Amino acid sequence: MTDNADILTITHSASGASFAVHKFGATVISYKSKDGRENLFLSSSAKLDGSKAIRGGIPLVFPIFGPPTDAGSTMPQHGFARQNMWTVKDGSKHDSDEHAGISLSLNLADASAGRGDGNMWSVDNVKKDGTDCRLTLDIKVDGTSLTTILIVENTGSDAFNFNCLQHTYFAVDGSAAQDPTKCFVHGLGGYSCIDKIDSANDGKVASYDEDIDLTPGEVDRVYVHEEKHSALGVKIGVGEGKAIKMESMGEVDESPVPVSCVVWNPHIKKAKGMGDFTDEQYKDMICVEPGLLGHQPLLNPGKEARFTQIIFA
Ligand code: BG6
Repeated sequence: MTDNADILTITHSASGASFAVHKFGATVISYKSKDGRENLFLSSSAKLDGSKAIRGGIPLVFPIFGPPTDAGSTMPQHGFARQNMWTVKDGSKHDSDEHAGISLSLNLADASAGRGDGNMWSVDNVKKDGTDCRLTLDIKVDGTSLTTILIVENTGSDAFNFNCLQHTYFAVDGSAAQDPTKCFVHGLGGYSCIDKIDSANDGKVASYDEDIDLTPGEVDRVYVHEEKHSALGVKIGVGEGKAIKMESMGEVDESPVPVSCVVWNPHIKKAKGMGDFTDEQYKDMICVEPGLLGHQPLLNPGKEARFTQIIFA
């Protein structure tokens, strides 16, 4: 790890578990459980100097997922949350018997990068329309889990729709990501698939005994639950004999909303085209990304959305 002053490491003294968060994007870049295992993948070529969204850890995706869908918008893929420096909230750093943690926030007015032109978040449009928001990330670690809660507050005078994700890169031991017996996602039964690589899978509903694995090559799928089904709970195989549980839940104005799940791995061809990822590192990671997407939440002025991910490792 670099000694970059924008990286804060928080240790839960009672258990020895710890995490590190980079102020750029409020990106959690390390989560070590009490046995010392690193649970998050961080590319050895990741840019940690604020020149680019960080490749690894838990980048935050807001307010769009993927490239912009508004005609003429130049907002970069996955939005501006991961493209700006966040501020540590005064007095939020703590370390008690129960947990240790910290909170960071980003006001829209301080998001100077990544808003693009030609969309409701563009600087010019915001002045006209009264769109405004504040993002907060509460992070805490204890002896069994890492919890990250993204809070989106509508501080403006207009309602807005948004998508958000916690784009979690899980580290896979032994470079085993392509071995379906060691690396898989279990728990997406009943979710229907939107497949960005192989349209033959589009609309297929995963069965309850099915594990998703990375053997087809590049995998880039969104799993959406068709019925009202708010909480997501998956088991992720991350190497020989090692699995991690991840849970996620969301609420908008205190009402539960469905959580979808993206499964992504670039495989070799895409890896070779990524400047901040080495050719072979696709074997060392699997992205399992809970998200408020598929169903686009509407957030009214004065209201907030809360979106939680808990990793039990
Ligand atoms: C995933 C998307 O969430 O993120 C993929 O589904 C995308 O389509 C991947 O390639 C990585 O995105 P980025 O912008 O961090 O390279």
